[in-house]
Formats: sequence, structure tokens, C-alpha cells
Amino acid sequence: MKKKILITGAAGNLGGRLFNILSKKYFVIGTDIKRSNQNFKNSKFILCDLKNYKKVLKITKKIYAIVHFGSIPVEDTFKNILNNNILATYNVFEAARINKVKKIIFASSNHVVGFHKRIINLDEKCMQRPDTNYGLSKCFGENIARLYADKFNIKGFCIRIGSCLDRPTDRRHLSTWISPNDLAQLVDIGISKKYHFEIVYGISNNNRSWWNNKAAFKLGYKPKDYAENYSNKNLSRNEHVSKIALKFQGGVFVSNGFKGIVTDIE
Ligand SMILES: NC(=O)c1ccc[n+]([C@@H]2O[C@H](COP(=O)([O-])OP(=O)(O)OC[C@H]3O[C@@H](n4cnc5c(N)ncnc54)[C@H](O)[C@@H]3O)[C@@H](O)[C@H]2O)c1
Repeated sequence: MKKKILITGAAGNLGGRLFNILSKKYFVIGTDIKRSNQNFKNSKFILCDLKNYKKVLKITKKIYAIVHFGSIPVEDTFKNILNNNILATYNVFEAARINKVKKIIFASSNHVVGFHKRIINLDEKCMQRPDTNYGLSKCFGENIARLYADKFNIKGFCIRIGSCLDRPTDRRHLSTWISPNDLAQLVDIGISKKYHFEIVYGISNNNRSWWNNKAAFKLGYKPKDYAENYSNKNLSRNEHVSKIALKFQGGVFVSNGFKGIVTDIE
């Protein structure tokens, strides 16, 4: 029998794509606060606001793994981030605990480590250095995943996604890009492989990457796409307006509203 998987954020960009790819292998249920324009069969899509714990408890029954992609995907007011990213994520993990879900694959972000400089190559053990309220909420997600793995044995797989698009469109993407197919491969590893808790980087095979993805490779990740194929394809230079953005891994998420002292930041 196919494993039953719940994808949150399934009406969104990445959740929708994952739904299509993963439903070839698993019995997938999609959920989101808004309706999807995709053609889900009714039985496979449930409207649910993740802020509502009782509803989350209901939709996580008899689920093998949750692919948690529902959240605000960019910077926002702390109140919005608190509700839709932090509280909602807590509800997902707590409902998973009550319903004995085995695994949670969490859509983390490179903005968890945005304040690291670009000259440094990071692995999964590096310190979290969030660059925004948004990045801070993803630190919470990684930490609750660690807590629930160690304390309640819900296996946690956190993917620090770089930039997931059909192809790189900006020069930064030569370092951060992941194709939707490579992302689906990573999520599938999170669903199907044996591990306790992992942090991996959501990047394709990019030779300008700032991240050492050995934790993903150890579990069998073989990225098929390569950002460098697009290096001469008329890429935008969105970050080239700011020296701060170009210095730190988080780019404009770091430079927007920056009032710090660069020389004081290690
Ligand atoms: N797109 C990227 O390159 C990228 C990079 C890093 C991390 N991520 C993460 O991947 C996930 C998906 O990103 P995306 O680009 O597809 O964004 P998206 O906005 O297209 O999808 C997110 C979905 O979450 C839903 N959502 C938000 N709040 C909710 C709530 N309270 N209850 C239920 N659903 C809610 C939204 O309705 C939306 O459909 C996000 O968690 C994002 O932080 C994406």
C-alpha cells in the first residue's frame, strides 16, 4: 500500500509542484489556507488554516509523513510571521506528535544562515544566523524539528532551500538555485530514507555554492541540474545595488533595513 503523505502549502508554488511529482509514488493529500488553481481531486485537497490547531489535528490523522511547506515565504511583520510560520509550525509538530506521524520534512531556508559571509563555506553544523523575522521563524522550525526528533522520535528532515525556480534568473541563483525536480528528490529522500534528524541544503549541483551538502549526499542525493548551464543567460543583478547584500549569504534579505556595523560582524 502507498504511504500517506500530507503536503502543507499545497496551493503554493513549491507545494503544488511537489504534489504533482510525489503523487506518482505516494498517496498525497494537499492542504492550504487557500484554494488551489491546480486540478486536485476533491478527496486529495483539504482547506485548512494551520493556525487552527483543532483542524490541523484532524487532517494529520493516519499520516505517515508531513511535508511542511505552508508558510509566508518572505519577510513580513513579526505578527504575521509569528502566526503563520511559528504558531502554525508548532501546531503541525504537536498534531504530528499526538497522531504518531513518523516523519516531518520541513521547508527551511537559506535565510536561517543569511548573516554568514559569502567567503565562508557552510555545512549542516554551522551556527544559525538569521537575517530577518522570516529567517528567525525558520530557525524555530529547525529547532522544533530537532526537539521533536530527540524527545518524541518524530524523524526530522530540514531542507535549507536556496532559490527554487525552473531556471536561475538572477546572478545570486548561480550559488543558490535548486530545480523543482532536485527539490522533489530531496523531499523524497526525507520521506523514504532512514535517519534521525538532518539538516541539508536545498541546492542543485552548483559549483558556485556556499554550502557543503555532504549530509544530503550521504543519504543518496544526486542532484541532476546545474546552475552554471545558465551563467551566460542574461541574468539580472538584483543585489548589485548594495555592497551589504553582496557580502552576506542572505543578499537583500540582509541589506533591507540594515543598520549594523559591517566591521563588527564576524
Ligand atoms: N521558493 C523558494 O525558493 C523558497 C526558498 C526557501 C524556502 N522556501 C519555503 O518553501 C515553502 C513554500 O514556498 P513557496 O515559494 O511555494 O511559497 P508560496 O507562497 O507559493 O506557498 C506557501 C503556501 O503556504 C500557504 N500558507 C501560508 N500561511 C498559511 C496558513 N496559516 N495555513 C495554511 N497555509 C498557509 C499559502 O497560502 C501558500 O499557498 C515556504 O515555507 C518557504 O518559506 C521557499
